[in-house]
Amino acid sequence: MTNPAVERAVALARAIPKAELHIHIEGSLEPELIFALAQRNGVTLPYASVESLRAAYAFTDLQSFLDIYYAGASVLLKAEDFHDMAWAYFLRAKADNVVHAEIFFDPQTHTVRGVPMATVVEGLSSACRQAETELGVSSALILCFLRHLSEEDAFATLEAALPYREHFIGVGLDSSELGHPPEKFERVFARCRALGLRLVAHAGEEGPPDYMWQAIDLLKVQRIDHGVACLQDPLLVAELAHTRLPLTVCPLSNLKLCVVRDLREHPLKTMLDAGLCATVNSDDPAYFGGYMNANFEQTVQALGLSCADVLILAHNSFEASFVDAAQRQRWMALASRAAATA
Ligand code: ADE
Ligand code: ZN
Repeated sequence: MTNPAVERAVALARAIPKAELHIHIEGSLEPELIFALAQRNGVTLPYASVESLRAAYAFTDLQSFLDIYYAGASVLLKAEDFHDMAWAYFLRAKADNVVHAEIFFDPQTHTVRGVPMATVVEGLSSACRQAETELGVSSALILCFLRHLSEEDAFATLEAALPYREHFIGVGLDSSELGHPPEKFERVFARCRALGLRLVAHAGEEGPPDYMWQAIDLLKVQRIDHGVACLQDPLLVAELAHTRLPLTVCPLSNLKLCVVRDLREHPLKTMLDAGLCATVNSDDPAYFGGYMNANFEQTVQALGLSCADVLILAHNSFEASFVDAAQRQRWMALASRAAATA
């Protein structure tokens, strides 16, 4: 049975202007594009067809996903491959009324295969410029360090990226969380802070609240990616409500990686009710069954969110973004207008 209030909230969620702040561009690589790039580049894949690759997308936890995600990225060799991947994402973002995207990329996944940093950055940057001029979608790049690799490797990656400093606004921390606490990267993040880079980190996805405290206290991050584990620690929830340190939540990712058993058990509404600056994002949409609006629609339906909740989520996405205050206000006003006329 459909609930008219929920249906109105779903329609608003689709239409409202929003920012996406947690998208791994390599996680937007659809199976069809993986096969097309494999053919273009003469790469042999361990899957016979798009269907058999997609059939492998049955994950039990974060690591089971990462193994396939890194294998998929092996088809990316040339700047135009990175461009084409990002452009495909921007078309989806535009269709979902995403007006601004802060996009993660994982350079170590590519440099380890001999792909130069310049190739990665130039391909992604040219798609970002094209998205601005042709689609009116604004964007920025955030370089992520792979936390399963060493501190030394992260420092070397930062050095390799510094010639392209104007192409990215900040750094993040991703990959296998358990066993790789934020403290491992305290010195790298201190160096990035000194360079004036924005700082974010994945924490509290599969890891404990203590990893979120480390991200805050040691890495001094300005946002936490995921952060759903915060609800296990009332002091942490109080701190996050007080500081409004944003959390980039990814509901379909949490479902597909078995962080929650059912979307109806997702903590997003509890987080909003606690006054947290929680946002909705797609994480790795090609692998988790949907882009921004799929995340919004399914979460609104599962949790029975209202139009007021949807407006708060859109406002939070702009509050949490790294755009300047005037642009943030303009987009928040646009979102308010969409809600007023819904
Ligand atoms: N890399 C891509 N997606 C990720 C996720 N959900 N968690 C950690 N690292 C990732
Ligand atoms: Zn992520």
